[in-house]
Amino acid sequence: MANRYAVILAAGQGTRMKSKLYKVLHPVLGRPMVQHVIDQLKPTNLDKLVTVVGFGADMVKDHIGQTSEFVIQEEQLGTGHAVLQAEELLKDKDGTTIVVCGDTPLITNNTYQALFEHHEKTGAKATILTAQAPDPTGYGRVVRNEQKEVERIVEHKDATEEERAITEINTGTYCFDNKALFEALKDVSNDNVQGEYYLPDVIEILKQKQQKVSAYLTPTFEETLGINDRVALAQAEQIMKKRINERHMRNGATLIDPDNTYIGPDVTIESDVVIYPGSIITGESIIHSNAEIGPHTEITDCVVGEKTVVKQSVATNSKIGARVQVGPYAHIRPQAAIGNDAKIGNFVEVKKSAIGNNSKVSHLSYIGDADVGNNVNVGCGTITVNYDGRHKYLTTIEDDAFIGCNSNLIAPVTVGKGAYVAAGSTINKDVPKDSLSIARARQTNKEGYAQKLKNRQKD
Ligand code: UD1
Ligand code: CA
Repeated sequence: MANRYAVILAAGQGTRMKSKLYKVLHPVLGRPMVQHVIDQLKPTNLDKLVTVVGFGADMVKDHIGQTSEFVIQEEQLGTGHAVLQAEELLKDKDGTTIVVCGDTPLITNNTYQALFEHHEKTGAKATILTAQAPDPTGYGRVVRNEQKEVERIVEHKDATEEERAITEINTGTYCFDNKALFEALKDVSNDNVQGEYYLPDVIEILKQKQQKVSAYLTPTFEETLGINDRVALAQAEQIMKKRINERHMRNGATLIDPDNTYIGPDVTIESDVVIYPGSIITGESIIHSNAEIGPHTEITDCVVGEKTVVKQSVATNSKIGARVQVGPYAHIRPQAAIGNDAKIGNFVEVKKSAIGNNSKVSHLSYIGDADVGNNVNVGCGTITVNYDGRHKYLTTIEDDAFIGCNSNLIAPVTVGKGAYVAAGSTINKDVPKDSLSIARARQTNKEGYAQKLKNRQKD
């Protein structure tokens, strides 16, 4: 196998997106489109991966810096000019260079692999990845001669009516003989409607030098969608969503309404999980078997244990054990660790807290910066008062404790093992184990006083 190199073109501002964000950073299912391209390219065994970014595109660099080398194209003078920026890093190398646009996030590794293999087999100097487009508007068209050989590519804006009728399009992905590519790029001019140095002109240049050029027609046009505006971005989101959801369904998850279920590319879902409509599961989340998620639930970077049910809730960067009931309307914020068989009920917020096995926080509570043991019952309306305006403090509730409704636990404070806190208490001192703590005003009943009040109101 020849050495393989890749150049990703990602310097365009993407005017048609009408956005301050660089086009290639617009996310598709939560991940920047250029990152999708890199992820799918990587397994093709590349010796070098170079991404061309725009001047000042620090955000693009920050995103891809870990996964790719980059070069800067100071002015966006066209795709041919963009590839030339990688010349210093690549020019002396023998092998195949794949060039991919950073705005085609749906092309799969299989397609890249097939393109490489086709190119290496035919020994062509250039191979274009082409597709049959139902509506080719906007794409470069592949012009073939009478022998059906590829002659050149003509951009939509430069094409004649006759050329515009061609439905075979340039997907913007190519394999080149590396040295032939940089040689031919020197001859590309900007004599066209857009005044740009077009990379596709390399095809005609090679052809004129009697070099062999070829095309690999992929049967999956859908994959090659180029994202130039927000309409195409939404289409890409749909296609990616469908692809990921189908993978999970084939692996044994039930998606009640796949059109309304959004699962990120790095999510793991085990078998017999059921996902109800309106759920969004992203990041590196892992959903263990037989869990039920949704409806209308957002889970980001969480582990959800076996048989756990999460309804109408939001959970972020947390670990939820097995057989836990969450929601409806719970908010599990970062760094929560919920034990097995626990319950986090309606209108409960948990932040940076451990909740032990079999412990219940069933209604209307805030548990923040707390360490709650096993078999604890936290009554309705309990608040851990964790913040004095400057610092956060820890609340500890030991195993088997029982916190009565509407209690305030002013941190730092510990409720000992097996202790009871009476309803309505405001606790600001530690509660010893196995004791009952009552911290509220005593009740006074004034018999017959109600009549007096009513009489007063009549005056
Ligand atoms: C390009 C192709 C077209 C093809 C289509 C497929 C050219 C001239 N045309 O058109 O034949 O059908 O892709 O989607 O190549 N870029 C730079 N620097 C620049 C210009 C562009 O890095 O100076 C990058 C962009 O960020 C983008 C990619 O190159 O990721 C393609 O550029 P774009 O302007 O979207 O080209 P299209 O008009 O879509
Ligand atoms: Ca494009």
